[in-house]
Amino acid sequence: MNDPYKTLKAAIIRVTDETSNIKSFLLKPEKKFSFKTGQFVQFTVPGIGEAPFTPSSSHFEKDEIEITIMKAGRVTSRIHELKPKDVVGIRGPLGKGYPLEEFEGKEILILGGGVGMAPLRCLLLSLLEEKNKYGRILLLYGSKTPGDIVYAGQFADWKKRGTEIYRSVDRCDTGEWKEKKGVVTCLFEGLKLNPDNGVAVVCGPPIMMKFGTMKLLEVGYKPESIYLSMEKNMSCGIGKCGHCACGKYFACKDGPVFKYSVVKDIANIWD
Ligand SMILES: Cc1cc2nc3c(=O)[nH]c(=O)nc-3n(C[C@H](O)[C@H](O)[C@H](O)COP(=O)(O)OP(=O)(O)OC[C@H]3O[C@@H](n4cnc5c(N)ncnc54)[C@H](O)[C@@H]3O)c2cc1C
Ligand code: FES
Repeated sequence: MNDPYKTLKAAIIRVTDETSNIKSFLLKPEKKFSFKTGQFVQFTVPGIGEAPFTPSSSHFEKDEIEITIMKAGRVTSRIHELKPKDVVGIRGPLGKGYPLEEFEGKEILILGGGVGMAPLRCLLLSLLEEKNKYGRILLLYGSKTPGDIVYAGQFADWKKRGTEIYRSVDRCDTGEWKEKKGVVTCLFEGLKLNPDNGVAVVCGPPIMMKFGTMKLLEVGYKPESIYLSMEKNMSCGIGKCGHCACGKYFACKDGPVFKYSVVKDIANIWD
């Protein structure tokens, strides 16, 4: 078990602009870093503070780790100013990831919105690495406009490697968008799914998680087959401070991945 208080130094080796307010940071930790897909790290900017993020790179990659970060406030604004060769800290891995052993032999539907694609990219890349273990893999991804699509250049490769991809944008005024228009749940229309032998994984803004989950239930997924990544406000990241309380659970320690069946009766689940 890793010491949860220990911060590992990591050098930034590449910064990629994904959209106008989202960047990916490729980091080289001072030693090999292992994590399970869906777990998170606390990313420390010396002298500024730390914030939690889920790696977006495959968990099979141990020498480098990629983290995709949307500019939201104080810490993330400072992170967006970082350049290659800057040194930051990572603490973790923290929390519980996706139970991939429960996904084996099943159809896997990945439902993402906006920067919620970050942990889902980690999941997808990890699944594709061992694709023969799983059934059909579908990715349903929604963003506000075509310019807000994260990893825009990578979907073709995921498709080539066997992922079925369906995308929507809320709006596009220029006519350049040839795929679906509408909120992400419109992508279920006409889709043949096998919820009886399938799991669904959801990550995105709270409103999208809520309506996405309702849609999954409507098309036949069982509450115990729906996995949510709950990105609650966090501080310690290790179950000590209570910041991330989610009913009787702490999202940092008991999650951030929860089955819907476990959290469905909690009042503030979508806040
Ligand atoms: C387990 C986990 C994994 C995450 N993974 C990613 C990721 O891969 N990529 C990414 O871009 N972001 C991710 N986030 C969200 C990220 O941690 C927050 O955006 C970040 O902490 C904001 O820090 P800040 O100091 O820049 O903003 P602040 O100045 O603290 O806050 C700015 C605004 O963002 C809100 N905010 C802060 N934290 C969160 C949060 N966790 N969820 C929703 N709103 C929040 C605040 O309430 C405030 O309105 C993750 C969060 C968690 C808990
Ligand atoms: S962040 Fe402190 S208990 Fe979860």
